[in-house]
Amino acid sequence: MTSRATVTKAVIPAAGLGTRFLPATKAMPKEMLPVVDKPAIQYVVEEAVNSGMSDILMITGRNKRSLEDHFDRVPFIEKTLEDKGDLERLAMVRAASELGEIHYLRQGDPKGLGHAVLRAKLHVGDEPFAVLLGDDLIDARDELLKQMVEVQAKTGGSVIALIEVEPGQISSYGCADISVIEGEDYVRVNKLVEKPSVDEAPSNLAVIGRYVLHPAVFGVLEETGPGRGGEIQLTDALQTLAAQEEGEGAGVYGVVFRGRRYDTGDKLSYLKAVVTLASEREDLGPDLREWLKDFTGTLES
Ligand code: G1P
Repeated sequence: MTSRATVTKAVIPAAGLGTRFLPATKAMPKEMLPVVDKPAIQYVVEEAVNSGMSDILMITGRNKRSLEDHFDRVPFIEKTLEDKGDLERLAMVRAASELGEIHYLRQGDPKGLGHAVLRAKLHVGDEPFAVLLGDDLIDARDELLKQMVEVQAKTGGSVIALIEVEPGQISSYGCADISVIEGEDYVRVNKLVEKPSVDEAPSNLAVIGRYVLHPAVFGVLEETGPGRGGEIQLTDALQTLAAQEEGEGAGVYGVVFRGRRYDTGDKLSYLKAVVTLASEREDLGPDLREWLKDFTGTLES
């Protein structure tokens, strides 16, 4: 595969209420919850930037001002650190405000993920773009998004990321029925269902929060009515594109991801993500791992 493919725009929906993290998210966006020492959203923005996307559009809502503040300069903190000669912390503080061009747009009505993505239509225009959902963190060592960009360029369709899950977990995700394409490292998506019951799920392949989409998805979203939960579902719009055999932006393809993904979408997964990431850090890892070993020894099985 060539490495010339580029997508420069990324859309990050961040308008959700974060009800699964109440009361922590009563006055603070869930995207700002710290994963070790950075807010979850910073990992996602860094991933987009490291994948070549310098233009980020965040779809936000009420109570999300701290997102804008986080990615902005903070002269008085920078000055204090500079005066103290604390260059390490200064670099960390500045890093968040030097991550490229970040734009913000409010979703308005909370009508679902499909609706949030549709809000990006004017900003994105007529080019393929990425969508990154903040609940999924992809390890920086695994270049999933870059691979998806290349598949998009090669196929001309839209590309989703899939993982294999235990059959009982599929109802928490969009689910894909796929066909293997001989000789390729991506699959053809035949059918997509949003959060099917275990009995109705066509496979155990779950959609995770990375997409590289053809702009044809906007026209389809405009025609997509409310689906599961009464919300306009991105999965339903992609199902329409998957069913199209020809035309601009027809077809949906999948990359089956077997790398490191950290789910921060609910309390238990979030705790696991924080412990896993911290235990791999050079600065915190050795002490934390030691402590974890002792600690697990005190747990009754
Ligand atoms: C959304 C999508 C779903 C996908 C999931 C991945 O659901 O609608 O298809 O599997 O993200 O995280 P949500 O988790 O926002 O309800």
